[in-house]
Amino acid sequence: MQIKEIGKLPSDHADNGFYGQDIISVSQFNRGNLDYIFGVAHEMRVLVERFGSADLLQGKILANLFYEPSTRTSSSFMAAMLRLGGQVIPINNVQYSSVTKGESLPDTVRTLESYADVIVLRHPEVGAATTAARYAKKPVINAGDGIGEHPTQALLDHFTILEELGKVDGLKVAMVGDLKYGRTVHSLTKLLVNYDVEFVFVSPDILRMPEDVLDVVRGSGRRFSVQEDAHGVIEDADVLYVTRVQKERFSDMAEYDRMKDQYVVDEELMARAKERMIVMHPLPRVNEISYAVDTDPRAAYFRQMRNGMYIRMALLAAVLGKA
Ligand code: ASP
Ligand code: CP
Repeated sequence: MQIKEIGKLPSDHADNGFYGQDIISVSQFNRGNLDYIFGVAHEMRVLVERFGSADLLQGKILANLFYEPSTRTSSSFMAAMLRLGGQVIPINNVQYSSVTKGESLPDTVRTLESYADVIVLRHPEVGAATTAARYAKKPVINAGDGIGEHPTQALLDHFTILEELGKVDGLKVAMVGDLKYGRTVHSLTKLLVNYDVEFVFVSPDILRMPEDVLDVVRGSGRRFSVQEDAHGVIEDADVLYVTRVQKERFSDMAEYDRMKDQYVVDEELMARAKERMIVMHPLPRVNEISYAVDTDPRAAYFRQMRNGMYIRMALLAAVLGKA
């Protein structure tokens, strides 16, 4: 965990282990602190469903700094802050900020932290959140660093599996699509190795799961297989996690065109799936899941997306010492 020098905790701050801390990688999480975050996220859901909002983070300000496009992560962090009574400085398009004038990431975060209490950062470079955290004294939350990690997505994915299937241990999780550039599958895999999960990684060979992520799975002793052919995967998957081919990471568009649409989940495929299973997708979807699947009760991706707000409410409250 990236340790900030925060000094002595004021007595009104809950010492939950997250207060004042950065959230950079899923490697900061273990079964104990995951249970804690999921418990708070569950309470946040109840709070939103009963009351809509609360004043837990009144007086706190979030700087939402996005160097890459986003709909869900950006707006759910904003909604999370607003529903807890806080305020947001939205820099959702750095093109209109002084980044365009050549301002560096370290200077940008040091500027924002002089106005805000917490910074959420999405950036195209792997390690950008670590760099930002090194310069900022206030907590930095990684909202995606290139093809590296997307830890808050992995938390909401894990929370969704628990909410939908009631457990993670004993499940077979199939990840399909762009496993090379998809940061969500990198983070989710590294998070789920803490549990008794069997992995099936399905992708074209050139988009296979990076070796460093496979090494984490190997090191954990969890069972896994790597395959190009999706045949036989759907029948016994408990979780089918579908991803978009990450067009923005390709330098050769002809190669992207060859890779896209290789795996499409449709009604015919779903007819072969277990009755109790879920289909997940971090979204945005392009063609990977046909719209006809949306009404299947096993299609969990819109519920998954909504869970993002509860997880982000829990994380903001935790790092600001109010959970
Ligand atoms: N929204 C997710 C991400 O930013 C997944 C995707 O874009 O395909 O990583
Ligand atoms: N899942 C996800 O990160 O979505 P956005 O890219 O829209 O934020």
